[in-house]
Amino acid sequence: MTQDSALLLQAPETDLRDGSNNRKVFIKTYGCQMNVYDSTRMSDALARDGYEPTEDMEEADLVLLNTCHIREKAAEKVYSALGRLREMKKRKAADGREMMIGVAGCVAQAEGEEILRRAPAVDVVIGPQTYHRLPEALRRAREGHRVIDTEYAIEDKFEHLPIAEAPKIRARGVTSFLTVQEGCDKFCTFCVVPYTRGSEVSRPVSQIVEEAMKLVDGGVREITLLGQNVNAWHGMGPKGEEWSLGDLLYRLAEIPGLARLRYTTSHPRDMDDRLIEAHRDLRTLMPYLHLPVQAGSDRILKAMNRRHTAAEYLSLIERIRKARPDIALSGDFITGFPGETDREFEDTLKLVEEVRYAQAFSFKYSTRPGTPGAELKDQVPENIKAERLERLQALLLKQTQEFNDACVGKEIDLLLEKPGRMPGQLIGRSPWLQSVNVDAKASQIGDIIKVRITGTGTNSLFAERAEAEV
Ligand code: SAH
Ligand code: SF4
Ligand code: F3S
Repeated sequence: MTQDSALLLQAPETDLRDGSNNRKVFIKTYGCQMNVYDSTRMSDALARDGYEPTEDMEEADLVLLNTCHIREKAAEKVYSALGRLREMKKRKAADGREMMIGVAGCVAQAEGEEILRRAPAVDVVIGPQTYHRLPEALRRAREGHRVIDTEYAIEDKFEHLPIAEAPKIRARGVTSFLTVQEGCDKFCTFCVVPYTRGSEVSRPVSQIVEEAMKLVDGGVREITLLGQNVNAWHGMGPKGEEWSLGDLLYRLAEIPGLARLRYTTSHPRDMDDRLIEAHRDLRTLMPYLHLPVQAGSDRILKAMNRRHTAAEYLSLIERIRKARPDIALSGDFITGFPGETDREFEDTLKLVEEVRYAQAFSFKYSTRPGTPGAELKDQVPENIKAERLERLQALLLKQTQEFNDACVGKEIDLLLEKPGRMPGQLIGRSPWLQSVNVDAKASQIGDIIKVRITGTGTNSLFAERAEAEV
């Protein structure tokens, strides 16, 4: 994939407000949690430049698409959205209103120039490593240039992106993401991430701790550390010693008021002893682990360049379960990787049977241009990929239901998050990341209460208070 940079922009050192303070930005986020986090950071950077967020595209002066390139469908969605936006831009222009269109995220990184060519209404294309330059890019665009900035910036974007003040953090809720690691050096043969997000970079401990403390000051009770390979995070402790993600979790668990920690997404190769110890020792670290395996056949795992066998994955799971017996496991799976036979697909089902997942995400293999997988000859026909996916999903769904059913009758800690569907109800998060409905007052959002699970629904559980209010 090419690295485009028609314009090299300087990082903004100063407040860029230029007097027109009441612009509105609509941000649409596709893809993974890292994009969700990035959208928040971009929104904060734009606020300094006078842009207020809006939920209504009609009133937006800027529409920003934060895009995902992981599968073909995800990337195509962007072009159809851009087609619709072009019409809206024209219509607004006819009314004398200007609307700018920006494309950020992984499609921007992977297809920068092509976006400008295919979508003439786009004003700004900006890659994930240069979000701190977004206000400056927009300024150039307002001067009439079409701006593309998909450099791998030398400067650290996080140092230049503002962190929101407490009231703004409070308005966003009691759970938050915090990116600690970006990029990927693993080069699985099906995956675009190493090309769209670049090589692995870890944020320093001090930056992460400072941001976590600000989030907690703003009322956040639960933080999910993010990274494309979050457990490849490494840094330096106060005495100059090497830290891995486990050490970072021990440090973050010391922050007063921070009730819960999670992290995602992990690679099996980077689950070191320290991280497993953290699961054993830290009550703050929730008993939930997303540990994608993709496939159950050793030959396919090798072809995918996952660099572990099915047996190694299973013995890792055993060690983790020994350290934290109540841990809920979740995974990602791909059906129909090139060359996958029926027998090899059966190995995936066998592995799933052995692990017993609480939650899972599964996809048909999608051929991504520029990845080694795309060059392989024996691509699996769509209908076979789809059949396999259906069988796999039926099994995974059954396991999720079994996991949820086994929760009925249990007394658990529930973090109350947001209003429920019914008045007088709130939705909370269980330690195992399930959504749970319970009767509670809105003023209790942010509290952790004891509840007893009474039943299961399609996407959530039901509970009643397990102790009288004090
Ligand atoms: N870093 C994580 C995965 C990040 S991508 C890991 O290594 O596990 C999220 C998920 O998207 C992957 O786990 C994989 O299941 C899926 N995925 C990635 N590329 C894909 C492709 N080309 N086709 C189908 N699914 C894909
Ligand atoms: Fe993609 Fe593999 Fe990196 Fe995960 S580890 S982001 S699947 S290349
Ligand atoms: Fe998609 Fe980029 Fe995330 S490709 S899954 S948005 S890292």
